[in-house]
Amino acid sequence: MKSVDFFMQFIKNKREIGAIAPSSNFLARKITGCVDFDRAKLIVELGAGTGIITRHLAESLRPESNLIVVEPNDEFHRDLIKLKRRNIKIIKGYAEDLSKHIEDKGFCKADYIVSGLPLAAWSEVQRKDVMESIMRGLSDKGGFVQFQYSLQSYRKFKELFSDVQIKFTLMNLPPAFVYSCSI
Ligand SMILES: C[S@@+](CC[C@H](N)C(=O)[O-])C[C@H]1O[C@@H](n2cnc3c(N)ncnc32)[C@H](O)[C@@H]1O
Repeated sequence: MKSVDFFMQFIKNKREIGAIAPSSNFLARKITGCVDFDRAKLIVELGAGTGIITRHLAESLRPESNLIVVEPNDEFHRDLIKLKRRNIKIIKGYAEDLSKHIEDKGFCKADYIVSGLPLAAWSEVQRKDVMESIMRGLSDKGGFVQFQYSLQSYRKFKELFSDVQIKFTLMNLPPAFVYSCSI
């Protein structure tokens, strides 16, 4: 899908898309750099959009590991399902139902949750709801990776996780922070 199509989705639903352009390869690499693929038996990606981060995750995913991708947007979902691999499951759904999605695919908890969710565009209630789902969906030693265009969520993540590391890249529109959080 072209960037212009992503922008059209943004125009149709600013709150749900939350970005004017898909993430860059630079940002996607910073994000996947936070994942230890040797111990990541189950990775869940929330808010995959056009699948730029999905493709980077798929490249490094071990054959015995699994990736569940959750995306509610019809157009993005239609594109994502073209990525056919035995150990990649694409779900049209919401992050708020994360535990159900994980169980429906026969798993229990995720070792990593990678999120492109537009948290900054959401209400406090919606953010709280989704963070509760994420905490329920993560294993005891789980990792959570989120990108944002500001440091708005830093304090909240510090309350929820024992460790929060921040990376930054200028090579994205707009420049972005990556939060790498451990339980
Ligand atoms: C900022 S875009 C990120 C897209 C992609 N990950 C990227 O980096 O280019 C946010 C994505 O989150 C999706 N999204 C919005 N609300 C969601 C929800 N409640 N659950 C799951 N995904 C959601 C949108 O449809 C959109 O694809």
